[in-house]
Amino acid sequence: MHLDAQQPLVLQDYLRRRGWLDTEEQISSVEKPGEGNMNYTLRVITPNRTLIVKQSRGYVEKYPTIPAPAERAIIEGQFYQKTQVIPMLASQMPNLLGIDEENNMLVLEDLGNSSDFTYLYAPCRQLGVDDALALTDFLTELHTHFATITPDPRFANQAMRALNHEHIINYPFLEDNGFNLDTVQPGLQALAMAYKRDSSLKKTVARLGALYTGTSESGKSVTLLHGDYYPGSWLQTESGTKIIDPEFCFYGPPEFDLGVMMAHLMMAEQPPTVLNTVLSNYEPMADFDESLRKRFTGVEIMRRLIGLAQLPLSLSLDTKRDLLDEAYSLLQ
Ligand SMILES: Nc1ncnc2c1ncn2[C@@H]1O[C@H](COP(=O)(O)OP(=O)(O)OP(=O)(O)O)[C@@H](O)[C@H]1O
Ligand SMILES: [Mg+2]
Repeated sequence: MHLDAQQPLVLQDYLRRRGWLDTEEQISSVEKPGEGNMNYTLRVITPNRTLIVKQSRGYVEKYPTIPAPAERAIIEGQFYQKTQVIPMLASQMPNLLGIDEENNMLVLEDLGNSSDFTYLYAPCRQLGVDDALALTDFLTELHTHFATITPDPRFANQAMRALNHEHIINYPFLEDNGFNLDTVQPGLQALAMAYKRDSSLKKTVARLGALYTGTSESGKSVTLLHGDYYPGSWLQTESGTKIIDPEFCFYGPPEFDLGVMMAHLMMAEQPPTVLNTVLSNYEPMADFDESLRKRFTGVEIMRRLIGLAQLPLSLSLDTKRDLLDEAYSLLQ
């Protein structure tokens, strides 16, 4: 079954056979619910309800020549299954309505018309205190609840971690990776080159990479991570702030999720009050390592500024220089 907005009758038949639509229920229309790069996601509208259907394929949807692990939707579905027994987490995510392992398909509750939080990257936009608290409380609950020394092997998610490792740890720091950063912003390539040529920085980054993939162990407990905790995974809906898209989830260091979140708030130029709200509201586990959190923040800032996965930032070159400096200090 290949999900395709142009083939609503095929989809209707499929959803009926799986029992996700009633036998007489007809699809009135389908639409794209919002922006996404990795997967094929549709809103299915019937006279009775709306559903979100998401399919992962063996490539990146927006760039079909780039391979990606096909079964990532199933891992995402398992995250919803595992977390939905905790009411606080369930209340901040869509309900999982179905998983089809054979076709790498998920059916999710429709959270309705919503916008994600990538508007924060635009100038002078501030994360509200209530949102900052909700987003941090979610992380605290997730990390506290699933802390363990024996991770659930169904969440190894090695292939997705390998993909991320390439984009966070490796590619941005290659001197000659074929990506001319001056096409993003004139002058950026020269800024990046200082970091690409810094062998001690690259060693630090490689050590973080080994912690991320689990090839080196910190000796600390791990926990279930969302794995992609940034404004594109946060939705503003009529029923509050929600979290979606845990396809990069895995058992790992909680410092990673909080580090990524902080990096994005810094790149979105959030004032110190917002950053402090997040840092002071997050309830770390006993062996939480703040300097590791800072290193993950530093590497996320660097990879977003000088790597391939660029964000819709509206920052001047000078501001990027300052952010890269700050990221560099965080990595020391
Ligand atoms: N349950 C939902 N309810 C309402 N809208 C949703 C839901 N799930 C996804 N969307 C919308 O569809 C968009 C794409 O979904 P999602 O982020 O899960 O896809 P993706 O392909 O994994 O994206 P990315 O490339 O950023 O990883 C979201 O930004 C959101 O606007
Ligand atoms: Mg995604």
